[in-house]
Amino acid sequence: MAKEMLTVLDRPLIQHAVDEAAKAGIEQFIFVNGRGKHAIDDHFDLAFELERTLELRGKTVELGRSREMVPAPGNVISVRQQQPLGLGHAVWCARHAVGNEPFAVFLADDLVMGDDPCIGQLIRQYEKTGGNVVAVQDVPREHTNRYGVLDVGEDDGHIAEVKGLVEKPEPEVAPSTLTIIGRYILLPQIFDHLESQKPTVGNEIQLTDAMAQLIGGSPFHGLRFTGTRFDCGTKLGFLQANLAYGLRDGDVGAELAAFAKNELSNKG
Ligand code: G1P
Repeated sequence: MAKEMLTVLDRPLIQHAVDEAAKAGIEQFIFVNGRGKHAIDDHFDLAFELERTLELRGKTVELGRSREMVPAPGNVISVRQQQPLGLGHAVWCARHAVGNEPFAVFLADDLVMGDDPCIGQLIRQYEKTGGNVVAVQDVPREHTNRYGVLDVGEDDGHIAEVKGLVEKPEPEVAPSTLTIIGRYILLPQIFDHLESQKPTVGNEIQLTDAMAQLIGGSPFHGLRFTGTRFDCGTKLGFLQANLAYGLRDGDVGAELAAFAKNELSNKG
C-alpha cells in the first residue's frame, strides 16, 4: 500500500500533511502519485457510502470529521509520476500545476508534531528573507548519509544560511550535521534546474542537487523548526509517532499511558 496512507493515531500520514498545510493557510494541494496510489485521491474525495451510513446511524461527530477532511472543490490536483525516478523528478512532475510562484513541498512520511505547523514556520521565514527555505535539524554524524546535508554559512542557532547542499554524504565528508527534513519552500526557478538534472545518489534525480544550483541566485536558508519530527518511513519512527500522538490524545491518552507503563514494567 502507499505508505502515505499508513495511519498515525486516527488519520493517514497524507491527511496529517494536509492538516498541517491547511493550518498554515495553504489552500491548494497537488499530490504527485505513482502507480497504485489511487487510495490517496480517493481519501480526499467525498466518501458517499460511508457518509450515508453515518447519517443513517446518527453519528454526527464522525460525519463532521469525514467531511472536514475533504478540501474545497477544485483545490486538489493529482499528478502522475509514471516512473519512480526520484524526489527531484516527482517535484518536476508538478511544474505545470504549480506555475510561476513559490510553493511548499511536503514529504508525507516525515511527520512533524507540534502546535505551530512546521510549514507555517517556513512561510514566516520566507516572508522575512524571501528565497528558498528548508526545515533542518541536527543529527548524529553517523546519520548524515540518510539526508540532504547543509554546508552552513552564517548561523545564529535558529536560521542557517545555506552555502552548499549535499545529498546523503558519508559522515567523514559531510559538510555539517545539519540536515533537511521533508518540508521546503521553493522558488519556481527550481523547475529550470530539475529539467536538466541527471540521476546521482541512489541513481535517482535528486531535489537536493537542483536546490544546490539555486544557491547564490537567491537567498537560501535552513530553519531549525519547533516540533518533533518522526520518520514514518521506518518501523521505529512510525511506532514512535503513534505512541507520541496516542499519549497526547484526549480519548485514549490516559489508558495508553497506563498500558505502556505496564508493558515497560513487565519487560523489566
Ligand atoms: C529525502 C531527501 C533528503 C531529505 C530527506 C528527509 O530523502 O532526498 O534530502 O533529507 O528526504 O526525509 P529520502 O528520505 O527520500 O531518501
